[in-house]
Amino acid sequence: MSSSANACFRAHRPVLSFVWTPHRHASTSSAPKVMHFYQNKQLELYASKSAHRLTLRQLVFFGRSMNAERIIKSANYVRTELPVRIAHRLRDLQALPFVVVTQEEVAKVYELYWSAFEKLRRFPPIATLDENDRFCEFVSSLLDEHATVIPALSLGLSLSSPHLPPEKLDAFMRRMLVSRISRRVLAQHHIALSASLRNGENSRSSGHVGIIHTHLDVRESIEKCVELLTAAPPRVFSPEADGEELAGKLNCPRVIVDGHAGTKFAYIQEHFEYIMFELLKNAMQHRTASTTPLVRATIAAGKDDIQVRISDEGGGLTHSTVKAPSDLFSFSHVRNTTRMENERIGALRTVSASPRGMRATVDEQVTEWKSTDPGKTADMIAHQRIGIGLPMSYIFATYFGGSLELVSLDGWGTDVYLRLPKLGTRLEEIEV
Ligand code: COI
Repeated sequence: MSSSANACFRAHRPVLSFVWTPHRHASTSSAPKVMHFYQNKQLELYASKSAHRLTLRQLVFFGRSMNAERIIKSANYVRTELPVRIAHRLRDLQALPFVVVTQEEVAKVYELYWSAFEKLRRFPPIATLDENDRFCEFVSSLLDEHATVIPALSLGLSLSSPHLPPEKLDAFMRRMLVSRISRRVLAQHHIALSASLRNGENSRSSGHVGIIHTHLDVRESIEKCVELLTAAPPRVFSPEADGEELAGKLNCPRVIVDGHAGTKFAYIQEHFEYIMFELLKNAMQHRTASTTPLVRATIAAGKDDIQVRISDEGGGLTHSTVKAPSDLFSFSHVRNTTRMENERIGALRTVSASPRGMRATVDEQVTEWKSTDPGKTADMIAHQRIGIGLPMSYIFATYFGGSLELVSLDGWGTDVYLRLPKLGTRLEEIEV
């Protein structure tokens, strides 16, 4: 364990020992005991509250006409809601086996959340626009500090995979990641609404309410991802050629976009494009040595849902290491052996150690790929190998009640079906 992680466990050991091993870690001085008892009481207090879940429609309606009174209301909602959501996940972390929570990367995440919880719960109520500006700066700094959480958790839990049954590991990761997405949505939405109010922007002309794109063009987003993937094709390994890398030996697949091509709906662009990028990347990687297949993205706008089917001709999942297609969404090595592969663990270490963490948006990836900075390119290549694109896409898809399914047409190709509710009336699927 690194010295900083050790320091974290020294600082919070009584908090942890309150839950696990009070006899072994009992403090000799009474002052720290009282202090940590108090801190744990605070955590209990917040964890006993339920999260106040929202729908996408509520986020849009509340944000549509902003004024000073409404933005201050929004600020105080975020200020009181974030520590409740974090407290639930701190309790989850405390409930992990000791061998898992003391794993260096998991300890790093625990420490980040504990510190954010303490800072947020102590942040004074916001009454003026200036106070809101300071609150936005503070929340932005938290968002930056937490940039490495996903690779750190993924690495920590991959290395701890032998100590947790797969269903426990996947349920834990799902709670952690959905909750993280939800907190970042609340924080980023409030920051964006505050900026629009400050700059006098009108949501009708900008097409955005906070971080929600009110007329997201499905085809445009897909084409942006295809452009990026064609400019920087993903690495391809052929199962038929014993894993030999085929990049450079094959033409890039042609991607056809068809169906209801004019479809627009209100959604978080960043989430939609993350999913599309990952699904198209996989489809373009599924290739056999003998063919230059086609990838087809079909858009369907139903009454309640938007659906996108991505079909490839890469031979299906017959060569895959998993038993069932849904195992590809798993973080456990029992369900998906690639979780423990050295190359993936190495790439995760690189991304987890980089203060920039993971780039969140396809737009950022486009900018970075076009830049000539070799450091950024190295980060990007590491990102391609960390192997969390599919489970993360599943989590993004289901956050507001959508679904993601994979079907293998053995010997022919793979179909992936994404369904997202288009009315925005589904509550966030976070566990509270
Ligand atoms: C995270 O990114 O993990 C967060 O919880 C962000 C939040 C503290 C604003």
